[in-house]
Amino acid sequence: MSTYVVVGLQYGDEGKGKITDVLSAKSDYVVRYQGGDNAGHTVYAGDEKFVLHLLPSGVLQCKGKCIIANGVVVNPKSFIKEIEQIESKGMKTDHVFISRRAHVIMPYHILLDTYREEEQGGTQIGTTKKGIGPCYEDKISRVGIRMVDLLNPQILREKIEKNLRTKNALFSKYFGKPELDVESIYNEFVTIGEALKHRIVDTELELNQAIHEGKNILFEGAQALMLDIDFGTYPYVTSSSPSTGGVCVGAGVPPTSLQNLIGVAKAYCTRVGHGPFPSELNNELGEQIRQIGGEFGATTGRPRRTGWLDLVSLKHACMINGINNLVITKLDVLTGIKPLKIVTHYKTEDGKIIDYFTSSTTKLYNYQAIYEELEGWDEDITHVRGYDELPVAAKKYIEFIEDYLGINVYLVSVGPERSQNIIRKELF
Ligand code: GDP
Ligand code: IMO
Ligand code: MG
Repeated sequence: MSTYVVVGLQYGDEGKGKITDVLSAKSDYVVRYQGGDNAGHTVYAGDEKFVLHLLPSGVLQCKGKCIIANGVVVNPKSFIKEIEQIESKGMKTDHVFISRRAHVIMPYHILLDTYREEEQGGTQIGTTKKGIGPCYEDKISRVGIRMVDLLNPQILREKIEKNLRTKNALFSKYFGKPELDVESIYNEFVTIGEALKHRIVDTELELNQAIHEGKNILFEGAQALMLDIDFGTYPYVTSSSPSTGGVCVGAGVPPTSLQNLIGVAKAYCTRVGHGPFPSELNNELGEQIRQIGGEFGATTGRPRRTGWLDLVSLKHACMINGINNLVITKLDVLTGIKPLKIVTHYKTEDGKIIDYFTSSTTKLYNYQAIYEELEGWDEDITHVRGYDELPVAAKKYIEFIEDYLGINVYLVSVGPERSQNIIRKELF
């Protein structure tokens, strides 16, 4: 049994795609288990850049199967577009499958997401407007449409009719927007079902069998713990469980089957969308990090907010996920910044010094970050492949993180390319 879970520990965009791609070369399965096409996972394969939203980032290198499991919300139009993009570059996609149980993002989900964001003006969450929240709402309300329903025209029509009765009332009466037409949505989705039927399968049986046979299975998280519906900065979160715990319900595998829990964090921190960010740098240095790090959303193109590494939130993320292997990415981006700062504590409104994360998002806005200052370095580290070749200050930076969290950093990423890694321990 060899299972690996790659999860984000901050607010997304930590470089999960790059790490998944690297690990997928030795994986028999690469599995997405939550989220949808709100994700944007960047992979460089030679000179070619791929941004994967819905397809597992293993699609390029995995010799086995790539699975979109039951916990993912699937926009089938995005799926088809991504498949076409990959195939247009001469790559095969016949190893990609979707769970019959996965819920479908329908046009009304995307509209609802968009109308709500527009309606709330300045206080919106800043979603990707991909319909993620509304689709998960329907799943939990037990009115959702699943991939398997696309294969049964009668059930599909009934479900679209039922859903549009309430959604159309909301659109016209509450939002003052046009109603949607059952017939055109039905026709579109029945055609999609026909086109995708060879890829819509039961995935949980096969995954459990593969675990039993000791195959290498890599679960790829989207988003990150600080965007987790339960443990993130609610309500400024996504609508799924990006944690390692989410793997069990999102792919139908037992908790006892999860072994290598790999947490990915940037050497600094970024956030897209609204919500508290105690270590945010609203200044020139923040802009410098944004430019050097290329911090612009892979899905929406929005500039990412930037800030110092926050070990208080990272400790919270490692605890909830049970991380036993850390990956630090984008260490190269910190080259030339002196001194470097890392958050070790927060000061609360009433002057208390704490080192744990709070459940009160409102209070977090008023917390003051307390920093430890560390020396920076000037050397270009993008060509370094051996840990001992790193500048002393860079090693101290990594070791400070390890000491604070009590977890080893097994891989340090020093550039976006597949080869730009310092691997301290082979996991496979
Ligand atoms: P994901 O959503 O976690 O997969 O991350 P994204 O792909 O949204 O954002 C990470 C960005 O950083 C991408 O543009 C990657 O190509 C890039 N990247 C990943 N690792 C490194 C690294 O170590 N150094 C640098 N400079 N860029 C990196
Ligand atoms: P990857 O997998 C960064 C953010 C959105 C918004 C909030 C809710 O690339 O790390 P949603 O559309 O999910 O309802 O939006 O979550 N968000 C992400 N931020 N990386 C992502 O994915 C994200 N997916 C959603 O910006 O703040
Ligand atoms: Mg991303």
